[in-house]
Amino acid sequence: MTEQKTPLVEMKDISIAFGGIHAVEKASVDLYPGEVVALLGHNGAGKSTLIKILSGAYRRDSGDIMINGETADIRNPRDAKEYGIETIYQTLAVADNVDAAANLYLGRELKTPWGTLDDVAMEAKAREVMGRLNPNFKRFKEPVKALSGGQRQSVAIARAILFNARILIMDEPTAALGPQETAQVGELIKQLKAEGIGIFLISHDIHDVFDLADRVFVMKNGQVVGHARTQDVTKDEVLGMIIMGKCPPGATPGPGAIKG
Ligand SMILES: Nc1ncnc2c1ncn2[C@@H]1O[C@H](COP(=O)(O)OP(=O)(O)O)[C@@H](O)[C@H]1O
Ligand SMILES: [Mg+2]
Repeated sequence: MTEQKTPLVEMKDISIAFGGIHAVEKASVDLYPGEVVALLGHNGAGKSTLIKILSGAYRRDSGDIMINGETADIRNPRDAKEYGIETIYQTLAVADNVDAAANLYLGRELKTPWGTLDDVAMEAKAREVMGRLNPNFKRFKEPVKALSGGQRQSVAIARAILFNARILIMDEPTAALGPQETAQVGELIKQLKAEGIGIFLISHDIHDVFDLADRVFVMKNGQVVGHARTQDVTKDEVLGMIIMGKCPPGATPGPGAIKG
């Protein structure tokens, strides 16, 4: 982990309510370059809502977001992209009927000086970026629907980093994948870390993410129970945070930790 003083992302005291329901209440999380931070908690804990505030899908009621130490004004997904924030959804937003290169440049195609599509340049760039992420990937000429879940995910991630994502949000990235593909996503994440990208990895299942994460934040009922470096806590202790809201000695308690 290349820890530096200024976090890539700092979300401070973020709150949002839907009707009378406090989906997220005074939640604070941070993320450093090259770091994987897991956001854990039961279904309904507020993880996706918190992270949708970062990706511009929801507007917060209160709280601050800092990117690289400066206050960020994120009002919509386009603002978020300008800050280098990209989201990889569980339901992968890829176009099934076209190949990997076409997917990477969908809506942002490269053109020749004559205004025609520059397929040669797009394929060359696709091979370079995909080669970095997933060296075994060879199926550049096939429609994406023919690819495995893990390969489709590498296409979606390549698309994000091609357009300079510095902050990647992966919400339940392995929920729809088998064990082999899940391992592949783990490899992808290691590669992204090495490139200095910060990753929020969201899951309701600790086993999916614990070994990949440098730190964990646990949410319960919209609040942060606490956070810890994965090397300072056991999986059982983190389960105690998720289930009971109980903060172990190796963790820093948040507003949602039960007292005593
Ligand atoms: N658009 C919405 N409208 C109303 N309630 C919502 C909306 N999105 C989320 N919620 C509520 O906010 C709470 C947190 O949900 P969510 O962030 O999806 O949890 P998680 O991702 O941890 O499973 C839940 O009680 C959920 O029902
Ligand atoms: Mg969710």
